[in-house]
Amino acid sequence: MAKIGVFDSGVGGITVLKEIIKNLPGEEIIYYGDNKYAPYGNRTVENIRELCLNIGEFLVKSKVDAIVIACNTATAASIDILKERFPFIPILGVIEAGARVAEETTASRCTGILATPATVAMGAYPRAIQSIDSSLSVIQRGCPEFCPMIEDGWEDTLENEEIVKGHLSHIPEQADTLVLGCTHYPIIKNIIARFFKGRIVDPAEETAISLRKELLLNSIKINESGKGHTEFYVSGDTEKFQKVAESFLGQKIEKIYQIDLSAINLSVINLNAS
Ligand code: DGL
Repeated sequence: MAKIGVFDSGVGGITVLKEIIKNLPGEEIIYYGDNKYAPYGNRTVENIRELCLNIGEFLVKSKVDAIVIACNTATAASIDILKERFPFIPILGVIEAGARVAEETTASRCTGILATPATVAMGAYPRAIQSIDSSLSVIQRGCPEFCPMIEDGWEDTLENEEIVKGHLSHIPEQADTLVLGCTHYPIIKNIIARFFKGRIVDPAEETAISLRKELLLNSIKINESGKGHTEFYVSGDTEKFQKVAESFLGQKIEKIYQIDLSAINLSVINLNAS
């Protein structure tokens, strides 16, 4: 059985977790949602890196075999630094997977991206997509309101629909593909779909498939027959997290531990790594 660490700034990584469980149902997963510090998308790159290094430390101390950065903003800001700090385990982000699917999907050679302001500012998606095919055009739009509203439990009101519509009006018609470049956004995919008629790409499934391949490539034993288990940790509000996470996962979460990694000295903690 493999032990996999999955993290996000909050509840968005649940959209990736769901795909991981679908593709690797027998593994042990530790999920960390840093919801006290969400949204990452409005933070500086240096600050996001600091938060991610703490989470990486926590997961490595928990003896995970691999880490999935189930957050585009964290991937853009910190995948290189995490790989450098923890070179002994596979570390996957979501952007490469999203870029691959976008490139395979677009027929019009034009892809729209909805992401956090930080991901947009770092230019992570245009870079990743154009490194596959430099002739593709990529139009990005930062949506600062989405993540906090989803963390709070998105309400499907006319007013909120207007916010979605407003952002999508910046994606030109020639874009036939739209990447949900923030892992929170699949939670409101049905609302986004009201205003985008092309193909909507969620990098989660491709990320989970890549994780499976990566585990096998690294000879990390996976459990094909048994039933896995996920342990949930958050830094902030457990109730809000539980509500949104359970609704997207479609299952009850029995226990959520609250631990603010930024407020403790991880070096003195000896985690029970079973
Ligand atoms: N879910 C995250 C992402 O994929 C982060 C959202 C945020 O905290 O701003 O970018």
